[in-house]
Amino acid sequence: MNVLLLGSGGREHALARSFSLSPRLDKLFLAPGNAGSHSLGEPVDCSPTDFEGLAQIVEQDHIDFICVGPEQPLVEGVYDFFAERDVPVFGPSQAAAQLEGSKGFAKAFMSRHNIPTASYMEVTADSLEEGMRHLERVSGPYVLKADGLAAGKGVLILDSLDEAKSSLRNMIIEQQFGQSSARVVIEEFITGIEFSVFVLTDGKDYKILPTAKDYKRVGEGDTGLNTGGMGAVSPPPFVSEDIMHKVEHSIIQPTIKGLHQEGLIYHGVVYIGLILSEAGDFHVIEYNCRFGDPETQVVLPRITSDVLEACWSAATENLKNYKLSIDTQCASTVVVASKGYPEAYAKDLPMILPDPCHDAFIYHAGTKRHRDELVSNGGRVVSVTALGDDLKSSLTRAKEVAGQVQFDGAFYRADIGYEFI
Ligand code: AMP
Ligand code: GLY
Repeated sequence: MNVLLLGSGGREHALARSFSLSPRLDKLFLAPGNAGSHSLGEPVDCSPTDFEGLAQIVEQDHIDFICVGPEQPLVEGVYDFFAERDVPVFGPSQAAAQLEGSKGFAKAFMSRHNIPTASYMEVTADSLEEGMRHLERVSGPYVLKADGLAAGKGVLILDSLDEAKSSLRNMIIEQQFGQSSARVVIEEFITGIEFSVFVLTDGKDYKILPTAKDYKRVGEGDTGLNTGGMGAVSPPPFVSEDIMHKVEHSIIQPTIKGLHQEGLIYHGVVYIGLILSEAGDFHVIEYNCRFGDPETQVVLPRITSDVLEACWSAATENLKNYKLSIDTQCASTVVVASKGYPEAYAKDLPMILPDPCHDAFIYHAGTKRHRDELVSNGGRVVSVTALGDDLKSSLTRAKEVAGQVQFDGAFYRADIGYEFI
């Protein structure tokens, strides 16, 4: 089949690589992809949110299937647009993508289906004073979340009440995150360890993909600003079979059933961010309606069955007949970022990558070709994934290769996975 893959990051390079291993793939088109994925398919010059432009490509290149990497096109309704044109799409409908597109929607959904999550209150300009009183009643740390998409920056965790009150006002009245923070969710702070679960679903059946843990802070020891993710490991060693059994029963099943009951069409992956407390309870802290980045770079390499077939089966409501196989090996990925990230950073930096090797893979994230030269084109530039019999060997190898990636101001977190070694 001819496949059109939307997106341009490391996640999409990992999807492209897994798709390219499938005997079902005829031709892969990338809208727009990056210098790494361009070796696996044909780039098309179209934004993932330009649906009319994508429709032209679908017709011209006889596309049979669209796989969506990032959340923005999903929240803007790419599924629905192509459903009307009978093109299968891997991703939820616009209504279901609200699980990521609106924190308030996600909280209300969890409350309707008794899915464990932090208690919360929703605040808008009309209820600002009530929101302030709520902050005075609860104790810190205070968690404030912009309702809408905010490129991973819309969550503030504040220790002082004064700061929390002024941030709430800034978000709502000064529109700190634009329209996205016109509505804010104030959430109870949950203490514990985070991990992520990825559930493939066609709306009726589901398959649980490998679990992962990502490292969001830019600095070693989990310090500094939040980023899209500086590295990831799979599986996080503390996620036992018993834990997954409980997660499946109390979170995954009610989520899939709830979507189905509410008529929310979902042909994609539900990414569930969880906090496991010391007492052994779980709370969902977020839903995302797509794969994680850089989690995909550790999740997909551990899937030994056909990943394109998996996504196609979800998109065509045939997941029941798909046989998922997962490697027992561990995977680690280390992101090499550009100096300044996640704030301002330089682009167009000439790069030198280590020679290809059999035991580590370099997924490009922010790269492009300028004339014949490979140059940086983003804050997260590449992510290096290695598999190993245990986490330590995969981490050691991923870091070794990450250290060989050269461009001016390249840095990576040498402590990814530190707590497990
Ligand atoms: P999110 O964008 O919802 O993933 O939130 C970003 C980060 O904020 C998460 O990865 C958590 O580390 C933290 N976080 C979000 N919600 C909570 C909460 N209720 N309690 C504690 N930490 C949270
Ligand atoms: N790594 C976090 C995310 O993809 O949302």
